[in-house]
Amino acid sequence: MTHPIIFDTDPGVDDAQAIAIALRHPKLELLGMTTTYGNVDVEVATHNALLLAQLAGREIPVAQGAAAPLVKRRHAPPAHIHGANGLGDIPLPAVNRQAESRSAAQFIVDTVNERPAEVTLVAVGPLGNLAAALQLDPTIIDKVKGVVIMGGSIHEGGNVTPVAEANMFNDPDAAARVLTAGWPLTLVGLDATHRCVLRPSHMARIEAGQGELGRLLAGSYAFYRDFYHEFLGIDGCCPHDSCALAWLLQPELFTTARGHLSVVTDGAAEGQTLFAPEGRGFIEERWSTTPLVDVCLEADGQAISDWIADVLA
Ligand code: RIB
Ligand code: CA
Repeated sequence: MTHPIIFDTDPGVDDAQAIAIALRHPKLELLGMTTTYGNVDVEVATHNALLLAQLAGREIPVAQGAAAPLVKRRHAPPAHIHGANGLGDIPLPAVNRQAESRSAAQFIVDTVNERPAEVTLVAVGPLGNLAAALQLDPTIIDKVKGVVIMGGSIHEGGNVTPVAEANMFNDPDAAARVLTAGWPLTLVGLDATHRCVLRPSHMARIEAGQGELGRLLAGSYAFYRDFYHEFLGIDGCCPHDSCALAWLLQPELFTTARGHLSVVTDGAAEGQTLFAPEGRGFIEERWSTTPLVDVCLEADGQAISDWIADVLA
């Protein structure tokens, strides 16, 4: 079965790895990419998405979206993790393409309405574009085939605060709307992505298999690997965003649970995703009233990391 997808992204080193999978996997029909600030400014995200499609020789629409969070003040992009250019500060070829004139939200709404019940939204950055699309046309809740989100954390703790994962922390208000909208949604959070390590040996296979795109992935990986080695003491990187596509194509590599999500939008726990398992009672109803979704609690990290390399090698 082929999956028509819209890929919402803030490329970003691990986003680029996932975009390569979206561009290359025979079972993915990449209808377009929508860009958001997060790892980089939104203009840089758009530039990088256009470049990646260009290096893959693919004509893919790219629609620019959110430049800032819905409510909170924006934090500076993490240049120490992804580089100022979002791709490990490696020299980049010139981009000879233009983005769509439509906004990300308009592109999402138009595409979902053109192909009802067929399109899966895969979002791997802060969720402002999906929140804006819901605002523009709430009926897409019943028209998408599904929504797969890289973000959040159930038992794993946070990566930008003790409790919050970066995409949720960057725009908790957008996350709160998107994770409780009532559309069919799977959250692929740190409980899954922290089980995966893309090793240098994986990246060597990817580089050999992807030509100029492979050289970009390898060069940007080197910068990201230094961050992981210095701050987390591991030799490699967590391929967070590729895990969203791994779940879509190889769900058997993940363990999920069904329940209710809510997002903390202010205070010390801002960006934390709270999960109430289906049927579990708590002292008050409020954690169990949002629409049911699926969350990843475990993942076969070795198999997923090997799958990523196999797809791109
Ligand atoms: O927490 C990891 C997420 O934040 C990934 O999507 C990464 O690209 C960053 O956006
Ligand atoms: Ca990302």
